[in-house]
Amino acid sequence: MEKIIVGNFKMNLTKEEILSYIKEMKKSKYHKKAIYCPSSIYIPYFIEANLKVGVQNISSFEVGAHTGEISAKQIKSVGASYVIIGHSERREKETEEEIQKKIEKAIKENLKVIFCIGEKEEEIEKREEILKKQIENSIENMPKENIIIAYEPVWSIGTGLTMKKEEIRKVSLYIKSVVKEKCKVLYGGSVNEKNIEDLSKIEEIDGFLVGGASLNPEVFLKMIEVAVTM
Ligand code: PGA
Repeated sequence: MEKIIVGNFKMNLTKEEILSYIKEMKKSKYHKKAIYCPSSIYIPYFIEANLKVGVQNISSFEVGAHTGEISAKQIKSVGASYVIIGHSERREKETEEEIQKKIEKAIKENLKVIFCIGEKEEEIEKREEILKKQIENSIENMPKENIIIAYEPVWSIGTGLTMKKEEIRKVSLYIKSVVKEKCKVLYGGSVNEKNIEDLSKIEEIDGFLVGGASLNPEVFLKMIEVAVTM
């Protein structure tokens, strides 16, 4: 089945690099299948190219005197449709209460939320407990239609370490059982052009959240093709 594939560019690439990235991506018909999450300032370039685009964070506030913040409504107004919320690199700076408020604001604006959860290395033993808490604290009473869960073991992000397939399968089923309602679960953490084919065989996951490997258009295009054609 066709998988969802999301590129999280984090704080990378300049305007020139973004423009040449988009140009390179257009060389394959598969480029339209991915969801791109660049820095917010670059959203208009992706909209102009008719691509699916999202941001990496939004404000937990609706409007007003919050210097440096960007609201869900503003993101929606420039045409983005997705927002990553609760990424582990942001969780270091925000509380679960803020994460919950951000998800609320995004849903109100009809943005699709890519809600990241995952355990740290020292929490592996109590993984299920951690994931359950992260889910319950942030999305328990929310409508689930617009929420995609991205499971990213923190110890696997940017390290080259991926989880065993059997374990990913088990965790995905666990997450789906905690959420109760139907929901999509992505896997993230060192997904690259070498392992995506194997990981795509896991029927229990609905796609991938890709960091580092999404920055190279040639590599990311190959990954998109595998994810949507396997
Ligand atoms: P990575 O990052 O693919 O570079 O491990 C994934 C992420 O942080 O979303």
